[in-house]
Amino acid sequence: MRKTIVAGNWKMNGTSESIRTLLADLIAGVPAVEGLVTLVCPPAVYLSQVKAQLGEAPVEVGAQNVSAHPLGAFTGEWSLAMLQDLGCDYVILGHSERRSLNGETDAEVAEKVAATLAAGLVPILCVGETLAQREAGETLSQVAAQIDAVLQRVGTEGFASVVIAYEPVWAIGTGLTATPEQAQEVHAAIRAQLAGSDAAIADKLSILYGGSMNAGNAAELLAQQDIDGGLIGGASLKADEFLTICAAAAESRK
Ligand code: 13P
Repeated sequence: MRKTIVAGNWKMNGTSESIRTLLADLIAGVPAVEGLVTLVCPPAVYLSQVKAQLGEAPVEVGAQNVSAHPLGAFTGEWSLAMLQDLGCDYVILGHSERRSLNGETDAEVAEKVAATLAAGLVPILCVGETLAQREAGETLSQVAAQIDAVLQRVGTEGFASVVIAYEPVWAIGTGLTATPEQAQEVHAAIRAQLAGSDAAIADKLSILYGGSMNAGNAAELLAQQDIDGGLIGGASLKADEFLTICAAAAESRK
């Protein structure tokens, strides 16, 4: 059975004080369930603090971005070696906010995925369509193209160690959620795209849904056959909401 992953993308939120409180609540309530990975992705400046506070708690740590370069004159960036140094095992890549606000291209995202795999960290590759693309009937072709750019770079074998997050851009931070049927359709198409070249890798691939997932809608989304967890923004900043989603994820594995 593939892994279920509940990941909190804290984006650019929190202070050392608020993070201490949030984490203490998460540590107290997180379910330890075989096959369920719980993950928090704080702003990079707080990675050390988070790692230290978590200790042996069953919560993994991820970054929200990384440079594809190993080191050097890249002001404002950080490297995979630095993330490894901090004990960080996951990296969110190609988030729609980075694609739209920082101009990250499919080719740059593919380079970052390749560098992340080479370093032995797990990339969480974000894909998704805009509202205009959905309305134009281009959802599946858009998502397939974003994945294809990475496939061309790392091959299907690379996806043995990749996690995909399907995040419809129109659902992010808007309170609009894809219906379970809409999300399932895209998740199944992603799995079919990879199954075309390697059925075993496709079957093992964890595909997360992201976009206004919350305590109220998580169970229904996670019950879908090809939805293997969530990448959660706003609701990951509230311990009770996030823990309810974790509990729904644990339930979905039964
Ligand atoms: P929201 O859950 O706030 O919609 O954000 C989703 C997201 O972008 C996670 O990466």
